Amino acid sequence: MNEDVSRVIFSEQELADRVAEMGAAITRDYAPVADEGIVMVSVLRGAAIFMADLARAIELPIEMDYMAVSSYGNGAKSSGVVRILKDLSSEITGRHVIIAEDILDSGLTLQYLMKNLQSRKPASLEVATLLRKKTRAQADIRCRYTGFECPDEFIVGYGLDYAERYRNLPYIGVLKPELYQ
Ligand code: PRP
Ligand code: MN
Ligand code: MG
Repeated sequence: MNEDVSRVIFSEQELADRVAEMGAAITRDYAPVADEGIVMVSVLRGAAIFMADLARAIELPIEMDYMAVSSYGNGAKSSGVVRILKDLSSEITGRHVIIAEDILDSGLTLQYLMKNLQSRKPASLEVATLLRKKTRAQADIRCRYTGFECPDEFIVGYGLDYAERYRNLPYIGVLKPELYQ
């Protein structure tokens, strides 16, 4: 285990098993509409690893696309005001869009993204989030697919960073508090 991590919350195996289940559920649910076109969208950078694994667990033809956004405002993150740095390459009008997110915390990223993508008139728009944090103040986001609920702790790995580090850990763990205090 990485020396900066105090404990593992989801092991590599647990993540793989849950992602496989989510992929199977999506395969089942979307098989009837697959010929209308499915686009899986992730927001760089955190969701890239989850989407790469989830996409390979889906046994349907899907397109994979990416957005890059930056949050405005003071504070570390999540003012809810977002600027698009890189937009989708694909048209999503009339197609079935699944947003793959690594974690839902305040919910402001997804709230913005869903509103933005909905305005392009997809045939459907759903969210697959690997983690949903248990916090008091969270936007009311409906996620059709949720991997795990997780505690309100500072977690890293499997795409989740602290100051751009730790994304490449194959598991999700709690960062030692002395590293960010
Ligand atoms: C993280 C995470 C989610 C978002 C969740 O991204 O990957 O996208 O925060 O937080 P929210 O629900 O409070 O909006 P971040 O903005 O850190 O960028 P990153 O993906 O590049 O790490
Ligand atoms: Mn992110
Ligand atoms: Mg981040």
